[in-house]
Amino acid sequence: MFEPDKSTYQLNDGNQMPVLGFGTYKIAKPDLMNQTIQSAYENGYRMFDTAQYYRNEKMLGDAIRNLSVPRQDVFIIDKVTEMNQGHDLTINSTDFSLQQLGTDYVDLLLVHWPIADKFFETWEAFEELKKQGKARSIGVSNFTRSQLELLKTQADEMPVVNQIETHPYLNQAPLIKFDKKQSIVTQAWSPLGRGAILDNPMIGKMAVHHGKTPAQIILRWDIQRGISVIPKSQNPERIAQNADLNFELSDDEMSMLDVMNRNQRTGNEPELVYELGKQYKQFKK
Ligand code: A2P
Repeated sequence: MFEPDKSTYQLNDGNQMPVLGFGTYKIAKPDLMNQTIQSAYENGYRMFDTAQYYRNEKMLGDAIRNLSVPRQDVFIIDKVTEMNQGHDLTINSTDFSLQQLGTDYVDLLLVHWPIADKFFETWEAFEELKKQGKARSIGVSNFTRSQLELLKTQADEMPVVNQIETHPYLNQAPLIKFDKKQSIVTQAWSPLGRGAILDNPMIGKMAVHHGKTPAQIILRWDIQRGISVIPKSQNPERIAQNADLNFELSDDEMSMLDVMNRNQRTGNEPELVYELGKQYKQFKK
């Protein structure tokens, strides 16, 4: 049974996180933010994902306040951008983000991308922010297995979430398995591959069979493989559709979706972003 406003994952720090969230990347106008957040909330979404890089934290904070619901009814995810990594910048930029969002804490703060030369000091700042209560939970985004293993060599606390690009054409099965072993919940950004997978004929057939849409089939696959999803949509009908996931894919259907992998990314390659950080350090020397 999936209920968008009630279904949660247990995080390894004791907190709970909704299974379904709403992605706000590229929502850049206050009216649109208000409409989409209102529509998402009405359809049961309780988790809202932003980032310093999106430059829409204030809009999101205002839109959440316009819902007139208690702060604890919503789960806010924010991410510290590459340029703000390092110990002091992480602390200061998070304070600024909280001010923009108009809240004393975010529910989950993520390192947006791994950067080699800021790697450990950024995480140390995250651990401090958690102790101070400014981030209820801390996690990472776009981390590979080797970066998580590296983090483990010095971290006092491990991330509770790894938010990564994953969809049927980039199924990330080995990383999801590794995350699970480490008690890290995997969360999918661009679970619909930015719309590119929706015309896959096999997914289309499954959709017809269930009386659902291809997007619902993909999101349901994610939930059944035990990961969290944050689909984006600016359209009220599709916002509603993406939260209506209370049906079941058979084992055969799950397997068919599992083998569609093409290692096809829509975003950056995390190892490259990490290395660029290193080059930046060398360049400065
Ligand atoms: P729109 O905003 O017009 O609904 P992702 O979350 O993978 O990045 O995908 C986002 C893209 O997928 C957006 O272009 C969005 O367009 C589209 N999209 C979101 N939900 C659906 C849906 N249920 N059916 C079709 N397209 C969708």
